[in-house]
Amino acid sequence: MPGEIELSPTDDLMEMVVAGCTAQAIHTAAKLGIADVLADGPRTADEIAAEVEAHPDGVYRLLRALTTRSIFTELPGRRFALTPMADALRRDAPNSVRALVLMAGHPITWETWGQLAHSVVTGEPAFWKLRGMRVFEYLARDEEYADLFNQAMTFSSNIEIPTILDAYDFSRFHTIVDVGGGQGRLLAAILRATPKARGMLLDIESVTAGAPRVLAEEGVADRCTVHSGSFFDAVPAGGDAYVLKHVLHDWPEDKAVEILRSVRASIGDNGELLLVALVLPDDGSPHLGKVVDLDLLLEFGGRHRTREEYRRLLAEAGFELRRVVPTAGAASVVEAIPA
Ligand SMILES: C[S@@+](CC[C@H](N)C(=O)[O-])C[C@H]1O[C@@H](n2cnc3c(N)ncnc32)[C@H](O)[C@@H]1O
Repeated sequence: MPGEIELSPTDDLMEMVVAGCTAQAIHTAAKLGIADVLADGPRTADEIAAEVEAHPDGVYRLLRALTTRSIFTELPGRRFALTPMADALRRDAPNSVRALVLMAGHPITWETWGQLAHSVVTGEPAFWKLRGMRVFEYLARDEEYADLFNQAMTFSSNIEIPTILDAYDFSRFHTIVDVGGGQGRLLAAILRATPKARGMLLDIESVTAGAPRVLAEEGVADRCTVHSGSFFDAVPAGGDAYVLKHVLHDWPEDKAVEILRSVRASIGDNGELLLVALVLPDDGSPHLGKVVDLDLLLEFGGRHRTREEYRRLLAEAGFELRRVVPTAGAASVVEAIPA
C-alpha cells in the first residue's frame, strides 16, 4: 500500500517485547473494572478514577496507552469510550474475556513466566520451584486463585462446548464418564443433547464441590452422579464413553500414560475414549498452541501434542487411535478404542 511504513525486523521484535506491557495494561483495566464504568457511555479519566478508586493521572495514562491498541478510544476533554475490544473486558459482556485476562495477567502467572529460563534449562515447571507444589495442590489452598482458575475454565468451556457438540455426535452412548471434568459443564451439555444417556463426573473434591449446583442448573442432576477422587487411583467403571477434555495436556508422558491406564482398567471392550485436546500440526507451520504450550511447561510440566504423539501415548496405555475429528474451535476430538 502506498505510504505504508515497512517495519524492520528489530521494529517487529520490539513490538512483540512491548506487547508484554500492553498485556499488563489490559489486565489492570480489567482488574479495576474500567470497561464496566464505561458501559453507559464515555466518561472523563477523573470520573473513571473516582469510580474505581484510583489515581486520576494513572487512569488517564493507562487508558491513553491502551488507545494505541484500539482498546478504548480517547475523545476531546480527556474522555474515554469503549471500543469492541474494550467491551469484551466488561464483566457482563456476552463475549466477556475478563476471567481469562485476570488469570493471564495475575501476579502468580507472571512470576511463573519470569522463570521461563529455569523451565527451558531444566525441563521442570517453574511453578513447582516457586511454590513448592503442583498447580492443582496449590489451587486447593488459594481460594482466590482457584476461583479465577475455575472462572477462566468455565469461560473457555462456554465458548468451546457448542463447537464440540456441533462437530461430534454423542448420541450412540448410554453412559458417559467425564474424567477430570471440572464442575461438569461439558458433561451437562452432552447430557442435554442426549436425553437418554446418563453421566458420571470425576474430579478432585475441591472442584466437584461446585458440581451439584452446575448439574442442577443445567437440569441434568437426576441423570448424573458425581465422583470425588483422583484419576490416578481409579476411574468409575460402567461407561461406554470416557471423555477427557484438556486433561492430558497438564501432565508429562509418564503421568499421562498412568491416567490413560486408569481409564483402560475401567473401560469395557466396546467402550470409546474421547480426548478433547488441541492437536498441534506435525509440520513446522505457525500455531498459537505452540506458544500456549510454554505455559503448560511452566505451570504443569505438561505439553500440547501432535497427532503422532497422541497415537504413541495412547498405544502405550493400550488404546488405538481411530480418528481425529476437528471442531470449529481450537480443539479436536481424538477418538480411540481399547487395543
Ligand atoms: C485443565 S482442567 C480441565 C477441566 C475440564 N475437563 C474442562 O475442560 O473444562 C484439568 C482438570 O483436571 C482435574 N484434575 C487434576 N488432577 C486430578 C486428579 N488427580 N484426579 C482427578 N481430576 C484431576 C482438575 O481439577 C481440573 O478440573
